[in-house]
Amino acid sequence: MTGIGRRLVRWYEGNARDLPWRKNPTPYRVWVSEVMLQQTAVSTVIPYFERWVKRWPGVPSLARATEQEALAAWEGMGYYRRASNLLRAARQVVRRHGGRVPSSRKELLALPGIGPYIASAIRSLAFGEDEVALDANVIRVFMRLLALDGTGTDSSVRTRVGERAAAGLPPGKSARYNQALMDFGSLICRPRRPRCGECFLTKHCKAFRRGMQYDIPRPSHKPSRKIRTAVAVFLRDDEVYIQQRSSAGLFARMWEFPGGKVRDGETPAQTLRRECREELGVNCRPSRKLAELTHYTTVFQVRLHAFVCIPPEGLPTDRTHRWVSLAELDRYPMPSANRQVVEKLHEPAS
Ligand code: ADE
Repeated sequence: MTGIGRRLVRWYEGNARDLPWRKNPTPYRVWVSEVMLQQTAVSTVIPYFERWVKRWPGVPSLARATEQEALAAWEGMGYYRRASNLLRAARQVVRRHGGRVPSSRKELLALPGIGPYIASAIRSLAFGEDEVALDANVIRVFMRLLALDGTGTDSSVRTRVGERAAAGLPPGKSARYNQALMDFGSLICRPRRPRCGECFLTKHCKAFRRGMQYDIPRPSHKPSRKIRTAVAVFLRDDEVYIQQRSSAGLFARMWEFPGGKVRDGETPAQTLRRECREELGVNCRPSRKLAELTHYTTVFQVRLHAFVCIPPEGLPTDRTHRWVSLAELDRYPMPSANRQVVEKLHEPAS
């Protein structure tokens, strides 16, 4: 297997993608990039990464940011817990490690948001430790090379892949080897439509030899459940009413319009009347439909219905319920679907 490792490293030296975190791969930059890349595509991550490291070039500066600033800088990438965890972890690194990212696996794993994959990526890409970093792309590459049955999350598959990937690691070259595997998985051994015609490993690939490259890994069918939600947009002069979500669950501590899930047998307008009575203690009168859009969360496909509503007397204002001017809304981190509703407010009414 080291033959494969050497070929991959050679290929990488001529074909590596030009990615900003690869220049000056400090432990902090590798860490930030890997957290961003864990659930977001490379092309989306690039501008977020560049803005983030310009604003917070190292652990000490990030540790001084507020959570609302970190969430706002993350807005649009989804999985916002990653931003909160990164900030908590940076503060922990300042307190426990004098602001220097630790290199030991145990200390890395003790930081919020760092799991086995990111710990290995930091140790390999930034500290040069001989360690493999198994993300979904790398697992797919080895599943095909070895023609393994199952999905990339099966523990038996992960064990086999981990062993073979470690056996292929050319000593002292783990950073290039791991990044070669990432690029190979993204450019050649792609999830769908692998480019076997351009592949330099087909001789070693059991899936290719058996014509099974399209069937490995087996797709894991996770049908997304469809739900509908309705939100109320209360307008007063150039101000709009928003509320902060709780500290638990999805979109923790981000800001949104009041509303909720449409129940069976309800119209979205009825949902708003019920939710506003239950949550805010006021009567809501939807006046016009502002937007209807589809967005996706981890589990749901959501059809969101937004209505401009007449602001009733008695809307509560406190730490988590505010009237905010349209110009100031940018400073409040919002889930993307809510931000799209804000964009509609800037469009002329049709
Ligand atoms: N995906 C996950 N980590 C990556 C990295 N460091 N470079 C490119 N793609 C990645």
